[in-house]
Amino acid sequence: MLFSTVVAALGLASSAHAWGQLGHKTVANVALQFLQPGVRDTLTAILAADGHNRLPNPSIVDVATWADGFSHSPEGTWTKGFHYIDAKDDPPLRCDVDLSRDCRGPGGCVVTAIANYTDQLIHPSRNVDETAQALKFVVHFLGDITQPLHTENFMHGGNGINVKWHGKKAKLHGVWDTGMIAEFFGSDNATGLDSWTKRIVNEIKNGSYKDAVPEWLSCSDINDAVNCATQWAVDTNKLICDFVLKTTFHKNEELPKSYYDDAIPIIQRQVAKGGVRLASWLNQIFGTAEPGSLSLYEQDRLVLQLSEVEF
Ligand SMILES: *[C@@H]1O[C@H](CO)[C@@H](O)[C@H](O)[C@H]1NC(C)=O
Ligand SMILES: *[C@@H]1O[C@H](CO)[C@@H](O)[C@H](O)[C@H]1NC(C)=O
Ligand SMILES: *[C@@H]1O[C@H](CO)[C@@H](O)[C@H](O)[C@H]1NC(C)=O
Repeated sequence: MLFSTVVAALGLASSAHAWGQLGHKTVANVALQFLQPGVRDTLTAILAADGHNRLPNPSIVDVATWADGFSHSPEGTWTKGFHYIDAKDDPPLRCDVDLSRDCRGPGGCVVTAIANYTDQLIHPSRNVDETAQALKFVVHFLGDITQPLHTENFMHGGNGINVKWHGKKAKLHGVWDTGMIAEFFGSDNATGLDSWTKRIVNEIKNGSYKDAVPEWLSCSDINDAVNCATQWAVDTNKLICDFVLKTTFHKNEELPKSYYDDAIPIIQRQVAKGGVRLASWLNQIFGTAEPGSLSLYEQDRLVLQLSEVEF
């Protein structure tokens, strides 16, 4: 809700809190379950040394939404365009992403930002704060790029589509970021994070996502980041025509229950994809993984203790 107010007040386009707190933290928490143990330690060390965010025992979950707050702070406005790519296609008839046409924000877009900050992690930059910042950006943007409305220009990524959600005025973009997630997966708190992570990890290890993981990682080479991030954007943007904007929305009318019912599995799958890709990415940068692989490290319990997570 805060998100809608901020966007309306500042007249922002597609820059937004994609996936909200719970969505981004779940992407990071899913990734955490598939990190090589040494990689997890390296990430903790990088974040612990971050002079801007002194956290006790930090994990990527704690910093998963840092980039949203930063982009809305005066010193971070230059990063707003990093959160999305405005595909100027023609939904719902034609969906496509063309990097030279669509990645034109000041400073670039989510695709070039992923490549830029990945490169800074592969070749560590000048100081610990910059390395920590690059890590925080990568963790966040690999989540953003799976939110369909972050890969679409139409009506400012759905910010201009006014609907109602539980009787209150809402923007379609915000309903995707937070409204539907809160409804289905519970509160923006550690309980919601824990149960949603378990649900997704089970689907990945031994459920309906297991066979899809190789496809999600079919392009996952840190040394081919522009190409892979572009393919992820294409994959996400396809959902705009297949579902997200296929409906006719009536101004200020309640979003149909059927829309919500059909959106939920899509949202969960996208968050799972983000988590799997993030794990693969970080295991390549800081560990020994090959592109396309996902390590199924057996764990008795979820890596993170609920009490450690700050919302
Ligand atoms: C790459 O990162 C640097 C350091 O944060 C930033 O100044 C530059 O604008 C970034 N470029 C792109 C294309 O993201
Ligand atoms: C999270 O919110 C739910 C519902 O409001 C509540 O039942 C639960 O106790 C909360 N969990 C934590 C850890 O605060
Ligand atoms: C995987 O799922 C199958 C069927 O749902 C079940 O029989 C099996 O025990 C599960 N394996 C694990 C490791 O959870």
